[in-house]
Amino acid sequence: MKLVVISNRIAPFDPNKPQTGGLAAALEPVVERCGAVWVGSSEECGDGTERPLRLEPTGTGYVSRLDLPAADHPGYYRGFSNSTLWPALHSLPDRMSVSEDDYDSYQRTNGFIARAVFDARDRDVFWVHDYHLLPLGAQLNELGIERPAGFFLHTPWPAPDMVERVPNHLELMKSTLKYDLLGFQTNRDMNNYSAYLRTHFGLETRDGIVTTERGQTRLKKFPIGIDPRQFADYLAADLSPAEQKKVSSLLQNFEGSKFAIGVDRLDYTKGIDKRVEGFNQLLRTEPHSISLLQIAPSSRADVEQYQKYKEDVESAINRVNAEHGTDRWRPIHYKNDSFSQAALARLYRAAHVGVVTPLRDGMNLVAKEYVAAQDPKDPGVLVLSKFAGAAEDFNENEALLVDPNHPEEIAAAISKASHMPLEERVTRWRSMMDKIESYTIHDWAADYVSELDKSRVTVPADQFH
Ligand code: F6P
Repeated sequence: MKLVVISNRIAPFDPNKPQTGGLAAALEPVVERCGAVWVGSSEECGDGTERPLRLEPTGTGYVSRLDLPAADHPGYYRGFSNSTLWPALHSLPDRMSVSEDDYDSYQRTNGFIARAVFDARDRDVFWVHDYHLLPLGAQLNELGIERPAGFFLHTPWPAPDMVERVPNHLELMKSTLKYDLLGFQTNRDMNNYSAYLRTHFGLETRDGIVTTERGQTRLKKFPIGIDPRQFADYLAADLSPAEQKKVSSLLQNFEGSKFAIGVDRLDYTKGIDKRVEGFNQLLRTEPHSISLLQIAPSSRADVEQYQKYKEDVESAINRVNAEHGTDRWRPIHYKNDSFSQAALARLYRAAHVGVVTPLRDGMNLVAKEYVAAQDPKDPGVLVLSKFAGAAEDFNENEALLVDPNHPEEIAAAISKASHMPLEERVTRWRSMMDKIESYTIHDWAADYVSELDKSRVTVPADQFH
């Protein structure tokens, strides 16, 4: 199967270079292994001139980096994708800003990408990723591309009243029905999407299929995974001298004591401020019991909401360190910096507790990576938000599930995790690890692609709804 993968962001394809988010980390091993062409943004802008696709080989696959048009980029990326859709998809309406101009830039950028990938129309299927590219399938159709096209959403899908706040939501949602297959992380996301179709278009989803004038769109849950073997390789591989130095100097801080780890893009959906407050409450009842290593590389730093969130998180961390720190002990070590997957693997392994407490998250692969990096004989414990997609995979007998809005629950869970007996830690970890190994990122990709292959079905006209 010759696949074209399309997403806004593309992985760096270098184990020593930092990853930026779950999508890139997830797709990198898939593309390297299956001979796909991966088209995305070069992160440089251009003047909008349309050029033939340039393919660079990577593993058995290829990457093609597009210079997206400069004139529309702020409206497409900072505007509609990350100031309108992102907060709406994470059910945070107070964070949303809306602009018709941004919507127009978003549509025009999708059109530019569609015309660029037209060159790859001889390949078998198009697999589009994430909210930046919701209308791409419809735009490919308009260009006359008849190949099966699927879409996978890495973020959550919210209840209809959130989508209703998005400008032109009816047009946008209609365009998603041009895909043959829509993949979601969880049942909750899929049910929310179906609820919108029912409310606004009177369309029912029957046996996971929505029927429209053009044919059928299949909806299915594909909970994204990781490559646990690659994670084991990361633990065994040598780090670059610079990374080795960064990791060793961090770990020195925790010699002979316990520490919890949080790794998140510095994003208001990640609940880092509430986590820091939870940690504060824990240290009030159990002084000096455990430290926190919070790694939070800046993300989307030109969006105002993100600048303010960074300031809020940093001042909360400073307050906790001032209240509980001593000359010889700092409660929270904070790194506003990116680390390679190989460096993170070592930090995860050394940490006694993994704290993954987003307010809402599509899946959150850090949860799975933390588990995969543990020592089977002495594993750490995962504290996990009920509102991360990963909580549909890991139950309360495996992870310690918390409401990320309640710092006192986070405090209690970190305390429980740090005192948990070895036998219970091993039982919980084994069960999560079995799940990670039984549905890896490669199973996820193979499952999606085979479903996409089956999804192109035409129905007789009298069965239209
Ligand atoms: O995994 C979710 C996601 O939003 C991806 O869509 C995105 O590429 C990543 O996080 C990081 O965000 P950005 O690409 O804006 O840096």
